[in-house]
Amino acid sequence: MATDQANYWHQRWLEGKTGWDRGDASPALRRWLDAGHMTPGRILVPGCGNGYEVDLLAAHGFSVTALDIVPEPLAALRERLAARGLTADVVEGDVFTYMHPDGPFDAVYEQTCLCAFDPALRPDYAERLRQWVRPGGTLYALFAQTPWRNGPPFHSSPEQMRALFTDADWIWPAEADFTVPHEAGFHELGYRLRRR
Ligand SMILES: C[S@@+](CC[C@H](N)C(=O)[O-])C[C@H]1O[C@@H](n2cnc3c(N)ncnc32)[C@H](O)[C@@H]1O
Repeated sequence: MATDQANYWHQRWLEGKTGWDRGDASPALRRWLDAGHMTPGRILVPGCGNGYEVDLLAAHGFSVTALDIVPEPLAALRERLAARGLTADVVEGDVFTYMHPDGPFDAVYEQTCLCAFDPALRPDYAERLRQWVRPGGTLYALFAQTPWRNGPPFHSSPEQMRALFTDADWIWPAEADFTVPHEAGFHELGYRLRRR
């Protein structure tokens, strides 16, 4: 990613312009866990921010890799994990170039990262997601439904997402598992996509 984009996100974190941050793990993740839809394994959380979902996944026995380009939230995440006696691989890096040395993951938990990028970057990011999830693995995706057209977060309609995550690579369910509201004024559709 271009340095000016990295600077943009760093500046937002430094100025506390983090309206996406729930201060706790998303109810979406709790719902998937409670429903038994997630089996512990290697999972990546790209653009994790403060990474409350990382704590929850680690507490449920997942081997979690948490990735973000900004160091400050990652420092907070590392501190919280240590205080709670949890472990995760917390990585400062760029989603557009990152690949784990052990290869693809069993799953990726995608929350408010795709919708944070200018739509022109979506094909590149979708390709990263394709490469990160092993065949047979799962992409847990929360697609932002916004009443506005300019972001971030950028509207990510099911039609747009189906065109991005094509049938050639992904098996789509008939419908979303659920809708979760966000107090920032949008809602998310939770989909589980299976990698072919
Ligand atoms: C909208 S926030 C979402 C944070 C978190 N997923 C959540 O739901 O609270 C987007 C996150 O992506 C990070 N980010 C932006 N560009 C990135 C990049 N190229 N590589 C890694 N992380 C990036 C930002 O620093 C920010 O923490």
